[in-house]
Amino acid sequence: MLLRLPGVYPPQADTELLARALASEDLGPTSQVLDLCTGTGRLSLQAAALGAGHVTAVDLSRRAVFSTWINATMHRDPIRVLYGDLTAPVKGEQFDLVISNPPYVPAQDDTLPNRGPQRAWDAGRNGRALLDRICAEAPAVLASGGVLLLTQSSLSGIEQTRSRLEDQGLSIDIAARFEIHFGPVLSSRRTMLETRGLITTGQTTEELVVIRAVK
Ligand SMILES: C[S@@+](CC[C@H](N)C(=O)[O-])C[C@H]1O[C@@H](n2cnc3c(N)ncnc32)[C@H](O)[C@@H]1O
Repeated sequence: MLLRLPGVYPPQADTELLARALASEDLGPTSQVLDLCTGTGRLSLQAAALGAGHVTAVDLSRRAVFSTWINATMHRDPIRVLYGDLTAPVKGEQFDLVISNPPYVPAQDDTLPNRGPQRAWDAGRNGRALLDRICAEAPAVLASGGVLLLTQSSLSGIEQTRSRLEDQGLSIDIAARFEIHFGPVLSSRRTMLETRGLITTGQTTEELVVIRAVK
């Protein structure tokens, strides 16, 4: 059971896809896990349940931070919950596993919402505002041999993520993938996505992937 304050992203298909990939990782009492964009903390709780010794969860939404803190307390999991922008709160630290299901939905413009539920999905015109930053910031917080598990949609440039991470010396694989029908947000943006050539006329599905990058 998870507590979720109003406006906090409810775990969905993308969360569960990342949860599936996470279940295949080898975690032990010395494992240090970082969950960027934690929402309710669903994935942090799973990492703790899988045996990770140290789990840190970060979100830029105070409601998400509070929800995660409550959920960790209810499950008696010693998760460190931090408020802040991506890796800023853990600057100088290193982790064996970094997981993230960030906002990745192409939006009307490049202005990122600074409040409201859409902060959980809107990611600029190309959907890459957060993905590009995670690609740039993750290597610094990964220990040598550490793994990044990153969820995104086929609408927000899987190849761009691959090449940005490869350019920094990481080895890339697709750990999980899943074809899904557009939910209400993408359905309402179909015309815009068609006009920009991000989807074909009549397209109603996207592919979600979890990219696995090893430092
Ligand atoms: C798609 S939701 C995912 C939540 C959760 N990980 C899950 O899978 O259920 C994205 C989350 O990213 C958070 N977020 C957005 N921008 C952020 C930023 N710059 N730094 C940290 N978290 C951010 C949102 O508040 C939201 O909780």
